[in-house]
Amino acid sequence: MKVLVIGPGGREHAIVRALSADPYVKEVHCAPGNAGIAQDVTTHNIDAQDPAAVLALARELASDLVVVGPEAPLAAGVSDALIEAGIPVFGPTKAAAQLEASKAFAKNVMAAAEVPTAMAHVATNRDEAASALDDFGAPYVVKDDGLAAGKGVVVTSDRDEALEHAEACFAAGGTVVIEEFLDGPEVSLFVICDGKHAVPLSPAQDFKRIFDNDEGPNTGGMGAYSPLEWLPENFVDEVMERVAYPTLREMEKRGTPFTGVLYCGLAVTKRGIRVIEFNARFGDPETQAVLARLKTPLGGVLLAAAKGQLDDAEQLNWSPLTAVDVVIAAENYPDTPVKGAVISGLDAANALENVHVMHAGTSTDADGNIIVSGGRVLAVVGLGDDLAAARKAAYAGVAEISWDGAQSRTDIALKAERGEIVVADQSK
Ligand code: AMP
Ligand code: GLY
Repeated sequence: MKVLVIGPGGREHAIVRALSADPYVKEVHCAPGNAGIAQDVTTHNIDAQDPAAVLALARELASDLVVVGPEAPLAAGVSDALIEAGIPVFGPTKAAAQLEASKAFAKNVMAAAEVPTAMAHVATNRDEAASALDDFGAPYVVKDDGLAAGKGVVVTSDRDEALEHAEACFAAGGTVVIEEFLDGPEVSLFVICDGKHAVPLSPAQDFKRIFDNDEGPNTGGMGAYSPLEWLPENFVDEVMERVAYPTLREMEKRGTPFTGVLYCGLAVTKRGIRVIEFNARFGDPETQAVLARLKTPLGGVLLAAAKGQLDDAEQLNWSPLTAVDVVIAAENYPDTPVKGAVISGLDAANALENVHVMHAGTSTDADGNIIVSGGRVLAVVGLGDDLAAARKAAYAGVAEISWDGAQSRTDIALKAERGEIVVADQSK
């Protein structure tokens, strides 16, 4: 089969690699891709958020399946255009992608489906925001009710800062969701859905803040690892029963069945599992770690999902190895990144055993150099027998790569390696 992958990032590079390794996939294309993806497959420079442009390319390539990576093309209706034309697409319709695009919508679905999540109030002005903050108390959680690439959320104990963020959202014409603070380790679980049926991938953990020790502002994600040895034994089954299936049933009931990845962002609190957020796509950088371990050919699973032919009973096969990936970001990220620097050391990193470099914000300059062209630039994936070995591999790769101003965290998966992640006793 021929597959077209839509998106420009590290997640798409990992998806392209996994599809290229599937013996049933004869051809992989990507649009727009990046400099690293272009070394692996043919890329096409189109506006990936324009449904008509994606449809035209899928027709030209005679694609048997289109896989949509990021949220923006989903929210723009790329899947709808492909479905209407009869081309199988892995990725939800615009209506179903509301689960990510609107936090208020997601809360409404969770309430109807009795999915456990943080208590929340929607506020449309300063007075409502202030009273919601005082209802819940510190630490305060204030979220912009729209797509903000993971950067629209402020978690702080400073009431003035919380209120300031709310006002900034109102000033931009938006509403905010103010929530109860969820205390406990976070887990990303990606569930492959075909509208009715669902198959979970292996859980991962993401590192959202820019600096070590989870300090500094939120980013799109600075690193990840999988699997999570510290999770309670029935964790995945419980998320499927209490979160994924009820959500799928509710979406179906509303006439907007969900096909694609239901990304469950979860907190393991002392009162049990709580949904922090849903996304309607694979996570980045978790996907780079998760797919590095998937042994089941990816193309067949995604095509079955796109066609509504997923079997709940499908068991995916996983490598026994552990995967860690570390993001290297541009200078000044998550603010406006400094672009243009030439990246060195990519070949040396890729030459290391058990190390694979996934590209995100990279492009090629007139002299053929690979240069920085986005905020998150690379994700260096390391595989190993355990977390210590996987971290060592990933960081050996990071050490080979350099440009002026490059930033990466030094503590991705470190707490887990040291056995310092504590899950509260759920039996009380
Ligand atoms: P979101 O965009 O909803 O994923 O939020 C980004 C990050 O903010 C999450 O990954 C959490 O680290 C944090 N966060 C969001 N909501 C909460 C909450 N209710 N309690 C604690 N932390 C939260
Ligand atoms: N890693 C977080 C996200 O993809 O939203």
